[in-house]
Amino acid sequence: TARQLVLGIESSCDETAAAVVADGRDVLSNVVFSQAAEHAKFGGVVPEVAGRIHLDSIAPAIQQALDGAGIGLADLSAVAVTARPGLIGSLLVGLSAAKAISWTRGLPLVAVDHIEAHVYAATMESQADVRFPCIALVVSGGHTALYSVGSPRRMERIATTLDDAAGEAFDKVAWMLGLPYPGGPAISKLAESGNPEAIRFPRYTPKTPPGGSGGPRPIGFSFSGLKTAVLYHIRGGDALNPTPAPEAIEDRADIAASFEEAVADTLVTQTLRAAEQAGIDQVLVAGGVACNRRLRALMASRAEKKGIRSFFPSPAYCTDNAVMIAGLGWQHFHAGDVADLHLDAAPR
Ligand code: KG4
Ligand code: ZN
Repeated sequence: TARQLVLGIESSCDETAAAVVADGRDVLSNVVFSQAAEHAKFGGVVPEVAGRIHLDSIAPAIQQALDGAGIGLADLSAVAVTARPGLIGSLLVGLSAAKAISWTRGLPLVAVDHIEAHVYAATMESQADVRFPCIALVVSGGHTALYSVGSPRRMERIATTLDDAAGEAFDKVAWMLGLPYPGGPAISKLAESGNPEAIRFPRYTPKTPPGGSGGPRPIGFSFSGLKTAVLYHIRGGDALNPTPAPEAIEDRADIAASFEEAVADTLVTQTLRAAEQAGIDQVLVAGGVACNRRLRALMASRAEKKGIRSFFPSPAYCTDNAVMIAGLGWQHFHAGDVADLHLDAAPR
C-alpha cells in the first residue's frame, strides 16, 4: 500500500512551522521559522507581533516543507493543524491556511492538540519500544503537567502547575540574570560554569491534605516560590534590598546552575512519584524544557534506579515543530478522526 503523506502546520506560539511526515513516523521535511529574535527585545512573546509574523511566514513555510519533501499538494493524504491550545491570533493563522488547502484540494482536515503532539514526539522516534499506558511530563514555556497516556490519541491530565510553567520560570530567571529570551538555553549554557550545589533553592512538594496520610501522595508543580527565592538571593538575602543590575550579580553562574538543578529535581521527583504510584514503568518527557541536558540526565539516572524507562524526543522535536503535528495528525486520520471546515481554534 502507498504511504500516506500528511502535511503538518503549527503556529500556536512563536514558531511558524510546517512539515511532511509519512505514515505518522517518517520525516520527509521539517521547516521551523523561529520568531525568538523578534520577541527577544521584549523579553517574551508579544501576541500581536506573533500573529503578524505568522501571517508573513505561513505560506513560505508550507511551500518549503512541500519542496523539501519533493512533493506537491496533490501527493498529500491529509492536512493536520494545531487547533489548541495557544495564542488565539497565532492559532488562527495556521488554521486558516490549513482550511484553505483542505477546501481547495478536497483534502481531509485533521485537528491536533499541541500538548498531545508534544507527547507524541516522544514516542515517534521509538514507537516499537514505548508501551502504553505510560506517564508523560510536558514541560514547555506555557505548560507544565503530567499525563497518564493510554495511547497516542488518549491521554488524561493527572497533575499541573499551580502557577508558572517550568519554561516560564527559566525565561523569568534569565531576565533577572540579564540573559536573552528564550531563557532556557541561555541559563543552561551559563550553568555549565557554575556549581549546582552552591545555593539550595527550594523544591516544591504538594502538601498532603489533613487526615490524608497513608494514601497516595499528592502530585503537582509550582515554580513561583523558586523564582522568588532566586530574586531574594540576588538581593543579598533581604527582600527589601533593591534588585541589582545583572552585571553587578557576582555568582550568576552558580545561580543559573543551582536554579536549573532545583527545577530538574522538582520535575523528576514529581514525575517518578506519579509513575510509581500508578505502577507504571515508562515515562516520556516532552516540550521545550525537555531539551535541558540536566533534566535529561537526572531523569534518566533516577528513573533507571527505580527500574523505570525514560524517553525523550531529540532536541529538535522537543521545541515547537510541525513534525509532531503531522505525526499525531496521521494517527487521528488513520483512526477516521477528521474535522470539517467549521473547525475552530481554542486558546485552552
Ligand atoms: O515547547 P516550546 O518550544 O514552546 C511552548 O509550547 O511553550 O517551549 C519553549 C520553552 C521556553 O520557555 C524555553 O526557555 C524552554 O522551552 N527551553 C529550555 C531549553 N530549551 C528551551 N528550558 C531549559 N533548558 C533548555 N535547554
Ligand atoms: Zn509547545
